[in-house]
Amino acid sequence: MALISEGGRERRDEKEEKERYEEEERKQRVMGVQIMALISERGKERRDEKEEKERYEEEERKQRVMGVQIMALISERGKERQDEKEEKERSQCSPLPTVEFHATTPRASTHNHISIENESGSGASTSRRRALVFVAATTTPLLLLFNHEAFAVKAAGLATTTSENYMLIKEEVKKVLSKAKAAGVLRLVFHDAGTFDMDENSGGMNGSIVYELDRPENAGLKKPMKILEKAKTEVDAVKPVSWADMIAVAGAEAVSLCGGPTIPVPLGRLDSMEPDPEGKLPQESLDAPGLKQSFQRKGLSTQDLVALSGAHTLGSKGFGNPTVFDNSYFKILLQKPWTSSGGMASMIGLPSDRALTDDNECLRWITKYAENQSMFFEDFKNAYTKLVNSGAKWKSV
Ligand code: HEM
Repeated sequence: MALISEGGRERRDEKEEKERYEEEERKQRVMGVQIMALISERGKERRDEKEEKERYEEEERKQRVMGVQIMALISERGKERQDEKEEKERSQCSPLPTVEFHATTPRASTHNHISIENESGSGASTSRRRALVFVAATTTPLLLLFNHEAFAVKAAGLATTTSENYMLIKEEVKKVLSKAKAAGVLRLVFHDAGTFDMDENSGGMNGSIVYELDRPENAGLKKPMKILEKAKTEVDAVKPVSWADMIAVAGAEAVSLCGGPTIPVPLGRLDSMEPDPEGKLPQESLDAPGLKQSFQRKGLSTQDLVALSGAHTLGSKGFGNPTVFDNSYFKILLQKPWTSSGGMASMIGLPSDRALTDDNECLRWITKYAENQSMFFEDFKNAYTKLVNSGAKWKSV
């Protein structure tokens, strides 16, 4: 019995041992799975971390590149601003001319150029040298900007078109000007400046119109002169202004008041003390070759002739609204309304306007301006600037 009971206990022990073992094994299996899971989890985390790190490094690299680019941009802009500042300082520090400029036009060219004259006639070469030094010192950068002959005039003008004096003239002109009076005022400009003859070196924008108002070609111009006289008296009370400057600025104001381009006008023209030679303005009966030749003697090209004739869009010659400055002059020229029999249409335009359509070179410009008003405005601006500088003698500013 004792043996049986001993054997029974052993079997129970074995069983319990087996169960403990199995339990242990199960626990280890679970643990193993957990460890494996843990290992795999850690691996995944590490992979994620690695990717994250790579992403971060890539981002950082990109930002570094961008930062360098931004810095380069900032430094480039800084340099540009510095250059601009130096440029401005150079042009401001340079003394304005102490000599007088006389705009003339070279014979072989349709472009004006600046020659310098000593008014008294003595010491001309000294003045010329001083002027050349001035021109070289002050306008070399400006030369890059202006391919135009009147660079010295513009260089001086740039300093004056924003000056108090310029603003004062503009303000007083605005007070006396209206759209209805604009045509007459603009016509004054051509009748003062249009006497310029570069071969004879006479006439030009010099205010001599005040002595020429009784000439037949100037009929009707006393009225606009009277209007401007009122404004000039007001300006003179503050700072005397020449008639030439007054008329040049007033013409530009007339254009802009009627919706045309804004034209900056440099100041400093001297007035003549006597009338210009007679018979220098083109007659309205001239044909296209005659008009072209007449303008050429004033240093104005065929393109200038066509663009400036566009001034006839103002006034009563039938080219659209008489108080609106636009390209209707060219549009109507292309329709040749004067070829219609009878009626108002047949009255449109002066013989000189009609003549322009007979010339192929003129017709090309007329067509361009009829199609493109901005081009007309730009070319009118440039031609007007030439006109108001032609033959002008300049005082020191
Ligand atoms: C191409 C050569 C030119 C000739 C033959 C010419 C001739 C004339 C004539 C005969 C008149 C009519 C005047 C009147 O109504 O009694 C006139 C008007 C006018 N001209 Fe010219 N002109 C020419 C160029 C210019 C230029 C270059 C300008 C200005 C840049 C100009 C501006 C004017 C204006 C604005 C009127 C209208 C005046 C008004 O209605 O009160 N002309 N022109």
